[in-house]
Amino acid sequence: MSVRRLAEPAVQPAAFAFDQTKAAEVRTWIAKYPKGREQSAVIPLLMLAQEQEGWVTKAAIEHVADMLAMPYIRVLEVATFYTQFQLKPVGTRAHIQVCGTTPCMLRGSEELMDVCRSKIHHDQFHTNADGTLSWEEVECLGACVNAPMVMIFKDTYEDLTPERLAVIIDEFEAGRGDTVKTGPQTDRWFSAPASGFTALKDEKNVLKATRAAPSAPPPAELKPDAAASEPSNAARPKTDAPVTNPALKSPSDVKVSPEVEKAASAPTPKEDAVAADRSEPLVEGASRKRRSRTPSDAEVPSGEGMKTKAGAAEQQAAADDADAPATEPTVADAPSLDDRNRPIAMARPAAPDQLQMISGVGPKIEGVLHSIGIFTFAQIAAWTAEERAWVDGYLRFRGRIDRENWVAQAKALAEGGEEEYIRVFGRKPR
Ligand code: FES
Repeated sequence: MSVRRLAEPAVQPAAFAFDQTKAAEVRTWIAKYPKGREQSAVIPLLMLAQEQEGWVTKAAIEHVADMLAMPYIRVLEVATFYTQFQLKPVGTRAHIQVCGTTPCMLRGSEELMDVCRSKIHHDQFHTNADGTLSWEEVECLGACVNAPMVMIFKDTYEDLTPERLAVIIDEFEAGRGDTVKTGPQTDRWFSAPASGFTALKDEKNVLKATRAAPSAPPPAELKPDAAASEPSNAARPKTDAPVTNPALKSPSDVKVSPEVEKAASAPTPKEDAVAADRSEPLVEGASRKRRSRTPSDAEVPSGEGMKTKAGAAEQQAAADDADAPATEPTVADAPSLDDRNRPIAMARPAAPDQLQMISGVGPKIEGVLHSIGIFTFAQIAAWTAEERAWVDGYLRFRGRIDRENWVAQAKALAEGGEEEYIRVFGRKPR
């Protein structure tokens, strides 16, 4: 990284102003930020100044600072920190940025820089004799798969050879830069394999082969070798310490003093402040657990090293139970409940419905529902508003049953099972 300073005063213009087109863009950019935060537009404004002048002049820095009511030094700091800003005059027809990072270097970026040295100037950041061209070495520009490459203005020129770069430079010098093809300079399609496709070349045959795959067991030599599949210990640290202290039990049966328990369950001032800010109520009682946000299918990451869907289902169940009462509730716990609204209980059937298919019902809540004689979707689907309120109060849910639409979910499951649930809700039940 070289020291980045403003160009010498001799080349600095006396003044700067955005032209009409750029001034309109400036207004658009400033309007994107909230009132009082307009200074956040400093980088886009400096970029617009650079696009207009070719480089960022001292006058442009001061002009942008005045527009955004910023001290000059603050804008100078930004302009000198980011290497995207050119602080010296560059070629009027092209400033060529040659990527010199490892993939491009391994694929010949040094030779490209030699071309720039011979055709433009020996040193980067110097213009050629006519002032039309300049060049610099930059870090990775994100087109490594098409290495080596250069960037001119906002376009990339990839899969370059020294000969092809020389032609491109000539075209820009002649003022015909806009006629040069951008992207890969070979006949490859963007970043497709340079030597042509090697797999999935014929979709029809692939599908045919997959469907016709024999169900016979694979030959012995292809069967996985159990011993070979053992996880590797190669990276395991050499230590005699046990992986887990066997003395530790989970959950811990260590008795804590009532004072410690009380202190641990008491909300911190921060928790209280957050709770006041949020519409979602905290669950009362010792746990004071906040309901976790439950991930949707779309949010479940996939791929190696990521959580599996099974893991997400477990998370979902845990989240559903997060508000469940720590101990099984009794009517005595909620004396305000009118027992006349209690849903009619039924005897446990031989095969109760899987109430956990209802989003919002975890194993713990299912257990509580069973304890009050609720075993089927049909029962929940038939709950009246009063009955819902009774169960909600019993579970101390503060409206969660309606928020999660248990009745509609249960109705769909009772009427048509999973298929009807998908039709109504557009997703699978858990
Ligand atoms: S290394 Fe050159 S584009 Fe990434």
